[in-house]
Amino acid sequence: MTDDRERWALILGGSSGMGEATAVALARAGYRIFGIHLDFRAGLEHVEDVKRRITEAGSEAIYINMNAADDEKRAAALARLGERFDESRAGGRHPYVRVVMHSLAFGTLIPFIADDPKSAVNRKQMEMTQDVMANSLVYWVQDLYRGGFLEAGSKIFAMTSEGSSRVVPSYGVVSSAKAALESHIRQLAMELARQRSGVTAVAIRAGVTMTPALMKIPEHDLIIESAIRRNPTGRMTTPQDVANAIVALSGEGTDFISGEVIGVDGAEFVTGS
Ligand SMILES: NC(=O)c1ccc[n+]([C@@H]2O[C@H](COP(=O)([O-])OP(=O)(O)OC[C@H]3O[C@@H](n4cnc5c(N)ncnc54)[C@H](O)[C@@H]3O)[C@@H](O)[C@H]2O)c1
Repeated sequence: MTDDRERWALILGGSSGMGEATAVALARAGYRIFGIHLDFRAGLEHVEDVKRRITEAGSEAIYINMNAADDEKRAAALARLGERFDESRAGGRHPYVRVVMHSLAFGTLIPFIADDPKSAVNRKQMEMTQDVMANSLVYWVQDLYRGGFLEAGSKIFAMTSEGSSRVVPSYGVVSSAKAALESHIRQLAMELARQRSGVTAVAIRAGVTMTPALMKIPEHDLIIESAIRRNPTGRMTTPQDVANAIVALSGEGTDFISGEVIGVDGAEFVTGS
């Protein structure tokens, strides 16, 4: 069955790494892109470059620089998307958000236990990391669902990592957010299916990938060395690997894939040494 609706992708974290690569790949696959990102002045030139690559693909890029975990800003962003959808409808088209990708990297990277309390995680840091990296997914999906942006065939992807079930000294807070994110995906998949919405949700567990977020992890050298040694393909995962997988998983015939964690890592996770 052909889908003649106007396809949009909402990319949370669309200015860098996996979100950037997926935004460009989906644009090339015919999607219009609504990107949310948080960048300071030094990063804005790069954001313009991402938008240029999307438009050069014959698509459209609406990017908003904001904290994705801010309720009021989320409401304003969705109001803007709603206005854009109204323009499409006025032109006789039928827009919907087919792809939602949660690809936010914004967390505290310090341990739980330290002699100096300032060197150990506190409540504010724990809650902020959980809010951005896990719970924000639920609030975006709630508003998208209630706002009528999601329709049968819509797909939700959330980026998780091996850290959801393994430990690294500085990664404890993000690990807990990844475990929560995978749980949120299972719950959303079940509830959306029971609503007979036709909307699916999966977590994508990428292998270790060279991005700005990886380089912020204090143990990144060890993590990269371990990934290269362990990955049986002999190389690390790339943002393009993730983008290609999401384009494929957004295609036809994928409507019964839901509630799962899907690895995109060349079998890195399952390879012990
Ligand atoms: N890089 C890896 O090795 C790896 C592996 C597995 C999973 N992941 C996960 O993939 C996701 C993307 O990571 P990446 O490596 O591509 O990171 P990245 O640093 O390249 O990109 C992060 C994106 O999130 C945006 N962002 C961060 N905080 C935000 C906020 N509060 N509000 C709005 N936007 C915000 C940034 O602007 C950027 O667009 C993360 O969830 C990360 O944990 C990464």
